[in-house]
Order: sequence, then C-alpha cells, then structure tokens
Amino acid sequence: MLVSATEMLKKARDGHYAVGQFNINNLEWTKAILLTAQELNSPVILGVSEGAGKYMTGFKTVAAMVDAMVDSLGITVPVALHLDHGSYEGAKACIEAGFSSIMFDGSHYSIEENVAKTTELVELAHSKGLSIEAEVGSIGGEEDGVVGAGEVADPEECHKISSLGIDFLAAGIGNIHGKYPANWKGLDFEALDKIHNATDNIPLVLHGGTGIPADMIKKAISLGVSKINVNTECQLSFAAATREYVEAGKDLQGKGFDPRKLLAPGFEAIKATVKEKMELFGSVNKA
Ligand code: 13P
Repeated sequence: MLVSATEMLKKARDGHYAVGQFNINNLEWTKAILLTAQELNSPVILGVSEGAGKYMTGFKTVAAMVDAMVDSLGITVPVALHLDHGSYEGAKACIEAGFSSIMFDGSHYSIEENVAKTTELVELAHSKGLSIEAEVGSIGGEEDGVVGAGEVADPEECHKISSLGIDFLAAGIGNIHGKYPANWKGLDFEALDKIHNATDNIPLVLHGGTGIPADMIKKAISLGVSKINVNTECQLSFAAATREYVEAGKDLQGKGFDPRKLLAPGFEAIKATVKEKMELFGSVNKA
C-alpha cells in the first residue's frame, strides 16, 4: 500500500536524516528503486514529473503500476508516490489518479497567487489523505523544458507558504536540477538557516540532489533538510552502464538483444546509485 510522505519525513526530520525522492521513468526504474529500498530497509519516495507521467501514458497508469508492483514484490517499507513539480491541473489529476503525495510548484506565480493555489490544493490533498509539498524560489536548471533561475528563496515568503498547512517545503538555496556547472558556488547555507528558522521546523526539501558533494548534503540535513530529490544521477548511471554493454558488443552475442538482458546492466546501475544515496542520506534501516 502506498503511504503519504508526511510521517516518514517527520521521522526523518526528528532523526536527522533525509529520505530520498528518486524519479521514475518506466518499469525498470520503479523496480530498481523499490527493490533497493526493501533491501536496505529504507523508506522511499518515488517522484514522477508531469513529463514522465505523460511518457508512461498518464498518471493513472503510473499509480496502477506502482501500486501493483509494491504488492507483487512484497515491498513492506513505506513507499510514497509523489508528483514532482506539479502544475495546478497536474496536482488535481494525481489526487484523482491514486498518488499518495503531490508537489504543487507555484514558485513561478506571484506570492499571492502561489498562496491562493497552494491553500486550495492543501485542502483537497488532505481531504483525500495525501501529503503536499510547495515551493518558494524556483530551482535552477532545466526540467521538462522549464528553466528556473536558481533563486534563493525569501524567508518571509517561505514562512507564508509553510503556514498554509503544507507538509514539507522546497526552498531554493542555489541548488539546480541536472549537473552542476564547474563554477557553481555551492549551496547557500546562510539562506537555508534563515529559512529553517522562519518555517517552524517543517521538513525542508532539497531539489537537484545530483552531484551535490557529500559534505554539503550532510550539512543541509543538519539544517533541516529531510527530503532530497535525485533524478539525473540515475539517468547518467543507467546510460553509462547501457553504453558499456553495447560498446562491448554484448547485444550482438547470443540473445544479448533481449530487452531483459540489454537493460539489466542499467537496472543494476540504478540500484547502485540509489543505494549510495540512501547510505549518504542516512535512511538505511529507518523503515
Ligand atoms: P536532479 O535531476 O538534479 O537530481 O534533480 C532532481 C529533482 O530535484 C527533481 O525534482
């Protein structure tokens, strides 16, 4: 059974570790992440962007697949199925489709409109037992064609949004999606500290988990980050392992072209990446 992310993130906040949100793209991704979480006895959040949802033919397909897979694999650790960077319409669609958690990303609206739409969605999500994440200060980088500027969120605005009854808050602190450029200045811990102090100990979310050095991850957790999103890093490790398989000519040997063989190294690579992150985030044995 899927659960909302509220309890697992409160536990993470109080226990000073973070739960990973790993984005899924297909069956292999989902299976790799679920099996790793179970092996490590870790809670896990499966993230689905609107683009990935569309790719998998819709949120209903995703919810049905994840729900059935949790059951078929005998997964007993807490699993939340979460909409990543949802629009207002997308958030409503996921509530209907059977997700257990949503993110409404109103960071590109005026603060007044972000407040109004978040307020409405908090009520709707909570009436159906889902958790809800909101965002202040857009995260930089590109995701599904949307390029954010990598803002540092205003603590006052974070306070406003966090008081609306949301369960966890994403606040920009210089983090960006995708690979970090060589001249990246790192996370803004001063800003994170101010945001943490202004938001009544609400679990904070760090987006753009790919490529953030381990010491910065640990410091962010010590300053209130309880959920860390990772997407690109699984894609990179999947692609590298698949490339290696093909470049070694293995798809040309025997039945190496069989998708169950062709995709196996990439599948194992995702598992290894997820394991590494869960160990770094401290969520192992916290199910
Ligand atoms: P990365 O792709 O940089 O890991 O970011 C993932 C993310 O924040 C999803 O919301």
